Amino acid sequence: MPDKDLTSLTIPRPDDWHLHLRDGNMLRAVLPETARHFGRAIIMPNLVPPVVTAAQASAYRDRIMAALPGDMVFEPLMTLYLTEATDPADVRAAFENGIATAVKLYPAGATTNSASGVRDFEKVRPVLETMAEIGMPLCVHGEVTDSEIDIFDREAVFIDKVLKPLRKKVPDLKVVMEHVTTEDAVDYVRDNPKNLAATITTHHLIINRNHMLVGGIKPHYYCLPVAKREAHRVALVQAAVSGDKRFFLGTDSAPHTDPNKLQACGCAGVFSATNTMSCLAEVFDAAGQLKKLEAFVSLNGPRFYGLPVSEETITLRKGDPVQYPTQIATDDGPVTVFDPGFDLHWHVEN
Ligand code: DOR
Ligand code: ZN
Repeated sequence: MPDKDLTSLTIPRPDDWHLHLRDGNMLRAVLPETARHFGRAIIMPNLVPPVVTAAQASAYRDRIMAALPGDMVFEPLMTLYLTEATDPADVRAAFENGIATAVKLYPAGATTNSASGVRDFEKVRPVLETMAEIGMPLCVHGEVTDSEIDIFDREAVFIDKVLKPLRKKVPDLKVVMEHVTTEDAVDYVRDNPKNLAATITTHHLIINRNHMLVGGIKPHYYCLPVAKREAHRVALVQAAVSGDKRFFLGTDSAPHTDPNKLQACGCAGVFSATNTMSCLAEVFDAAGQLKKLEAFVSLNGPRFYGLPVSEETITLRKGDPVQYPTQIATDDGPVTVFDPGFDLHWHVEN
């Protein structure tokens, strides 16, 4: 139950620990949507071609900063896309020189632009051992891609078949299970406190698979990992609002133009950068845990990554329904903003 007396909340400026900004026209259009409320974000490297080397990450960082409107302050935290050819020395240099904050593991074929991902985990073991040594986190897209595994089981199977053995082989590696969607993942993180954390997206706290599939297919709710049944969504909300240090926000805001979403084979991704903070405040308020929002969006992420908490603040204030655009215009075409399916009452004041 919401606390009726709690109508405003001031918290350190939040960070987004999993974000897709793309490049070019799309980057220019979506970057302000995140920078308006967030101080930093972990930037996903799944461009075409992917951001694999330190030099590519540095160049991409420059393009992001060049696209940032002059009146905005924002720090992109870059990631390197792990391939079977990744050079441990390049990863070490990228981390030690402050170019990259983390490495991203996509199992080959798991999602958008993941063809260069990892097939044979033994091939990347030297990189993982280097990362463990220098304290560089691995961000994991935790889904197996075997065609015989049902898409709704892919996260749970990944934990058993890939993540457990991998963490046994390289126990000192810091791992972020990204965009967890199942109770299985929540339990695994809770039961394994060492060097393990998880991000949760805004949309997975709000929609289950019925929202996507009942009463007509809703392409704007299609993302990977795909939303699961309601009991899993409830487990995610409980983890997020618990204040547990190992769970923090990674929106996975992933823009695709409407023509690319609304077709016979539509792209996976939910674009939530615009209204994420209002959505989250609504979720935490409804659970009667608004005060735990600070841990989820502002404190737990920096703690895991060993970075300072922002010294700036934002204030959330409850009022009349928030007006936000249904679409963001880009020079590549419109991008639809996540529709939580209910009014949002929490306004963000910078
Ligand atoms: O839904 C998704 N979209 N999941 C991912 O893992 C990738 C992302 C994208 O890049 O569009
Ligand atoms: Zn993602």
